Amino acid sequence: MSTTHDLLARLEAEHALSHRDWVGLIENRTPDDESHAAERARAVVRGVFGDAVYLRGIVEFTNVCKNDCLYCGLRRSNAGLRRYRLSDDVLLDCCRRGYELGFRTFVLQGGEDLRFDDERLVPVVAFLRERFPDCAITLSLGERSHESYQALFDAGANRYLLRHETASPAHYARLHPGDMSFEHRIRCLWDLKGIGYQVGAGMMVGSPFQTADDLAADMLFLHELQPQMVGMGPFVPHHATPFAGERAGTLADTLFLLSCVRLMLPGVLLPATTALGTIAPDGRERGILAGANVVMPSLTPQERRGDYLLYDNKICVSDDSAACIGCMRRRMESIGRRLVVGRGDAPGFGAGAGARERAAAACRRLEGGE
Ligand code: 5AD
Repeated sequence: MSTTHDLLARLEAEHALSHRDWVGLIENRTPDDESHAAERARAVVRGVFGDAVYLRGIVEFTNVCKNDCLYCGLRRSNAGLRRYRLSDDVLLDCCRRGYELGFRTFVLQGGEDLRFDDERLVPVVAFLRERFPDCAITLSLGERSHESYQALFDAGANRYLLRHETASPAHYARLHPGDMSFEHRIRCLWDLKGIGYQVGAGMMVGSPFQTADDLAADMLFLHELQPQMVGMGPFVPHHATPFAGERAGTLADTLFLLSCVRLMLPGVLLPATTALGTIAPDGRERGILAGANVVMPSLTPQERRGDYLLYDNKICVSDDSAACIGCMRRRMESIGRRLVVGRGDAPGFGAGAGARERAAAACRRLEGGE
């Protein structure tokens, strides 16, 4: 049997492991293996990205959601939440302010809010594309139709974040109500990829009922999908959900898996998440030191932040965006890293490349080839 050190060396060299080896690595690794994995992940991320840490500004523009995911504080059965939707003007204002602060990626995130249909959203994306030609537009709006993803892409969106949540259908069914479908979620990710988005998938670490087997399936799925981004943070319970009494994911597990993702997908854009900063005061710094290379401070208006709570004890809810970016810059400098202004595209996905592909696709459509 391979030692965990051998498995990590193989992962770094070949960027893949079998299901069985993943389970072995996840179950048998020691604290010493965890430090070794972090060290190798740091070397890999430095080789690809140098000392850069990329900045994304997240605008949480609606906390209305039609879904009832068992883990999420925005679930529709949470009647205790003050629901909000940002007006277009407020949303654009958040981006304008973010631009002044140096953000060049805007992440528009929201619950699955039926009010934000294409008719409402496409003009917003198109306006942002025109107003901020040097910025990336990332959407994180959950499951939509192929047609809708295409319309938003054509309007100028570049990236889409949709965590797969778990790659095991049985585990999926324990985290979600019966009206949600694992197959549909996975299909959405492939649709997004096919359209030409830079795609982000991912899962919570330590979600209820999660086993090493499930995590191994997650790693195999990420390998198959080859996403440009992976969003992965610890599960943190929310008091108004069925999982209120469950344990949070641990720092050690999350850091180890971040290192594994870096070794498997060397060029991936990998955030040190707010959830990681919530379970440990220096969680995000430690995430970066374990192989992450993105941070996503909030650009949501201060008076709404307290209502966008996916889990309890979320950090930074009372800060404003200027304070957040200053704090983040200091945190990154304290660990010898540099917060960079710029779009920070996935390797091979520069603004030019995206625009060229899109122009070519538009021409094909005009010629009736598609
Ligand atoms: N703890 C941690 N992450 C959560 N998310 C939702 N609820 C929680 C929670 N309780 C994550 C999900 C979702 C993303 C937007 O936030 O993975 O995809």
